[in-house]
Formats: sequence, C-alpha cells, structure tokens
Amino acid sequence: MAEHAAGQPELEPSIIVIFGITGDLSKRYLLPALYHLFKDKLLHEHTVILGLTRQSLSAEELFGQVELCINEVDNVCDPVALQAMQAKTELHQFDPSDSAAYPKLLEYLNDLEATHGMCMNRLYYLSIPPQLFTDVVHNIGVGGLNASCQHGQAKTRLLVEKPFGNDLSSAQELIAKTNEVFAEEQVFRIDHYLAKETVQNILSFRLHNPVFTSIWDGAHIAHIDIVAHEKIGIEGRANFYEGIGALRDLVQSHLLQLAAITAMELPEQSDSDHIHAERQRLLESIQPADPAQAVRAQYDGYKDEVANQHSTTETFAELRLQLGGERWHDTPLTITTGKALAEKRTEIAITFTNPHDATETSNVLTFRLQPNEGIHLELRVKKPGFKDDVENATLDFSYQQTFGSHGAHPDAYERVLVDAVRGDRTLFATSAEVLASWRIIDPIINAWHDNADGMQAYATGSTGPDVAS
Ligand code: BG6
Repeated sequence: MAEHAAGQPELEPSIIVIFGITGDLSKRYLLPALYHLFKDKLLHEHTVILGLTRQSLSAEELFGQVELCINEVDNVCDPVALQAMQAKTELHQFDPSDSAAYPKLLEYLNDLEATHGMCMNRLYYLSIPPQLFTDVVHNIGVGGLNASCQHGQAKTRLLVEKPFGNDLSSAQELIAKTNEVFAEEQVFRIDHYLAKETVQNILSFRLHNPVFTSIWDGAHIAHIDIVAHEKIGIEGRANFYEGIGALRDLVQSHLLQLAAITAMELPEQSDSDHIHAERQRLLESIQPADPAQAVRAQYDGYKDEVANQHSTTETFAELRLQLGGERWHDTPLTITTGKALAEKRTEIAITFTNPHDATETSNVLTFRLQPNEGIHLELRVKKPGFKDDVENATLDFSYQQTFGSHGAHPDAYERVLVDAVRGDRTLFATSAEVLASWRIIDPIINAWHDNADGMQAYATGSTGPDVAS
C-alpha cells in the first residue's frame, strides 16, 4: 500500500456517506476521528463527507453540537482543520426507510463524481440502530448504490457497527441478507478493539520476540485471563443496552477477538487473508461455552436507569472457556467484563506454568490495553540477604515512557476509517469470525434468555459480584 514519506498512508479520493450522522456513535467517535484525519491531513483533497439525517441541519450546526477535538492529546480545536472538515462536509435530509430516496442519492453521488471529474471510492457507513441494518442494505441494493463507479478502480464498501445479529441464527440471517447486496470483501465489520494500537502490538510482540514463541502453548501457559472492567455505566444508552447486555456488547465481539489474536497460530504471511484465517481457526477451536461455568450480574440501580424493574440484562459477565487444538490442549481461558466497576482496566494476563513448584506464583505476562498502555512481565527474584526468600518484581514497558510524545497513536476510529478507505480488511471481522464467536456464546444466550436465574447483584464502583473470580 502506498505511504507518504513520513510513513503516513496515501488515501484515495472518497465519498464517505454516513447514515445517521447525528447519532450518538457518530458524534462520540466518528466525527472526532474524522476531525483528526483532517488535522493530520491524511484524507485525499478530493474527499467528501456526506452526512444523512432525518433532521434538517447544516454541517456548521452539527459541528456546534459535537466535541470534535476532546481527547487526551488536544482539547482545543485547530481552526484550520475544522474549516477544512466543514468545507468537505455536506448534510442531507434523508429518511432511510424511504426506498425512493436511494436512487436520488445515487444520482447525487454520480453528480458529485462528475463535479470532481473522477471516480471515487464510496463508503457507506451505517451508524444507525441495528434494527434498520437489513432494510437499509436492501434499499442500497435496490437503488443500485452497491455498484462502483463504472470507469476506473474506485471501490464501493459497506462499514457496519456491531452488534452483527443478536445470536447465531440472526447473525446468519443478517450475513446472508448483506451478501445479497455486497460481496464479503466489500463488507467492513467494525470491531474498534482490533484497531487499538495495543491490540495490534500483541501480534507484533509475538512475531518479534522469539524468546516467547517457543513457550506459547498449553504446555507452558497455565491459563489466559482477559479482563475488561469499565468504570462507566450505560451512560444513557438504555435503548441500545437493555436486552443486549455485557455478553453481546463486549464478549461476542471485542473480547473473543482479543482471545483469537493472543492464542492464534502465527500466520504464514501477514496479509489480511492469512490473519483472518488464523483468527477464525482459533475461534472455531473453542468449545461452545458451558452456562454452568458462567456468572452474570447486574449493578444496583440499573433497572431504574432503563426503567424496567423486570430487566434480566446482565451488566457483568464472566465466562470460563478452553482453548482447543493441538497447541492449547484445553488451556483455560477466562473472560470477565462489567460496567460501573471500581476502575477502567482492560488487560490480557498470560500465566505461565511453573514446572518446579505448581503452588508458587508463576511468571505472568500482561498486555495492558488501557489505561497506561504497555506490557509487563512479573518475575520472581531473590530478596537480598542470607535467606533464599523470593519476591515478585516487574519488567515494565510503557508506551508513554518509551515513546514519550511519539507514543501518541491514532485513535481506533481513525485507524478504522483509514483502513476502510484504503481497503485493508485486516482489522475488521469476517462473517466466518462473527459466526464462530456467536457459536461460542450461544448456549449462554439461550440459558440466560428471559429469566434471571443465578443473576447476582453488585454495587456500582465495586469490583463486581462476590462469586466472580
Ligand atoms: C463499545 C461498547 O463497543 O465498547 C460500549 O458498545 C463500551 O458499551 C465500549 O463502553 C468500550 O470501548 P473502550 O474502547 O472504551 O474500551
């Protein structure tokens, strides 16, 4: 793929059509990410952001409502970048359920390309409630918007946000319906965890640190534990979260993908097809989860927040799985996630076996995704003195300390957008991966459906329910 001299990707002229530009997801993640791409001058000069919304609103009015440039790195908007973004953004009033609106949209895209004097990539970003996915995709097909500009190399792509279905069978249906309109290679299923710099570092770490390569298996690793604790609750997203819950929201997508990257075979080649195949193979090697080995819980006050005193939606879930295949021989894998907990902490801890003393604390290698991104290795060292006592000590790598200001990396959504424009599917989930991960959690979905059996309660700001590990 082409790169600028400074190592930045060279992107092709594109029309980014955002369905639901005024929605929560677009305002929180997508628009700030686009702003940063304008600020870093990463987008091609022939780029158009076409925002579709039911509302009658101008780009200027929309940007006035959005905190475009609030993040850890800068909290002041760069006026030049803002102006550049505004100049390239158009808002159109559009009802996604009106099939007659789609041929008109196609005409408009053709006119835009004629004005720019070139074929352009067309990216349809569905930032809309999942219930609307199938109809919108169908309308895109009927309206002829799935085709690419006839002359030239430009591509048409669909970007979709999870949840990709609600369980295995609805995911199969959604995928089949999408494939009636778009070929698999045109569909970019976003999993923003895959686009996190720290997650990409897992594979890189495994590839470039041969000292660990030979011990990356069930004979040397006792268990792998993935934790994604969030301090925030559902933050007013009752409509989205109620009925979805922690299992679908984080485990099916993000956390099983983390497991796949951590435990998959290293690909023979580092292209997207090989990486997808290995992630899929690992996911398929995990046996469907046993509901008896799962914990669910809900934080106090959740029912009031969603105004449903009978809610059976879990805000905390813990699963015990086993990694299969020749490499792993049923090595335990635990996945724990919850909202409204004491701290934000996302990490993957790999505990090595201790052949000399199974009762003693062993070496633990931890990938810290957030906060304080880094990698650390717990060692056992002898305490100074006449006795042979040993203590824990840590070898620590921190992005911040090692790279300083150069450690600032693109936000996951910036990476998602850049890769979708340049057509690199590595950091997106294929339909086979999506189905493999639904297959793992489907028994728990069925066991938990419409009942509250075994549901624990936990206080907000705590470490979760007592029965969890
Ligand atoms: C989203 C979930 O996919 O990921 C949210 O829908 C969750 O519920 C978020 O809060 C967590 O992302 P991050 O990057 O903050 O860990």
